[in-house]
Amino acid sequence: MAPLLSLLLLLSFSLSISGNKFTVGDEKGWNPGVNYTTWVNKHKPFYLGDWLVFYYQSGMADVVQVDETSYEKCDASNPIRNYSKGRSYAFELNETKHYYFICSYGYCYQGMKVAINVQKLPPPSPPPSHPSAAPFSLLYSSSFSAAVAGLFSAVAAAGILLLR
Ligand SMILES: *[C@@H]1O[C@H](CO)[C@@H](O)[C@H](O)[C@H]1NC(C)=O
Ligand SMILES: *[C@@H]1O[C@H](CO)[C@@H](O)[C@H](O)[C@H]1NC(C)=O
Ligand SMILES: *[C@@H]1O[C@H](CO)[C@@H](O)[C@H](O)[C@H]1NC(C)=O
Repeated sequence: MAPLLSLLLLLSFSLSISGNKFTVGDEKGWNPGVNYTTWVNKHKPFYLGDWLVFYYQSGMADVVQVDETSYEKCDASNPIRNYSKGRSYAFELNETKHYYFICSYGYCYQGMKVAINVQKLPPPSPPPSHPSAAPFSLLYSSSFSAAVAGLFSAVAAAGILLLR
């Protein structure tokens, strides 16, 4: 029953997320020896409402949000927010500003830190003037609704199973 419940929670969680979700460090996660400047350059721009998900080894790393000065100095003594429980941490980029995260376990000096510049969502693009743009956006929106509908039925199905 427990795995089913977590599946249900996971599904409802994905439904409530509006922005893009970025796994910090991609498959390498939040670990020493990853160049997060390269990671940021690969995935930017980041927009308001996007999420950062840090995956780390329990007890081996933490995620500390700091200001720019502390980021440069790898100083975790003045955290804005910190997180070290469990093995993952999802953080919503809900303000248009620079965010700075470091690890306080000493790996920051080797580059285990990440700076993210969050921008406003660009204004919706003007209606396509070129005819060939239309089929793509139609395709996109219909597959998106299909995905949402799929999630809803999966949640419903899991709910029914739970009630038994
Ligand atoms: C994280 O926050 C807790 C509670 O505010 C504090 O006790 C702890 O020292 C902080 N850890 C770091 C690395 O700042
Ligand atoms: C963004 O989220 C943080 C953490 O939940 C909260 O403290 C802050 O007030 C939020 N900012 C806005 C503009 O909603
Ligand atoms: C990360 O890679 C960038 C180039 O993408 C390089 O300039 C920088 O020195 C590297 N940082 C570390 C800590 O190796």
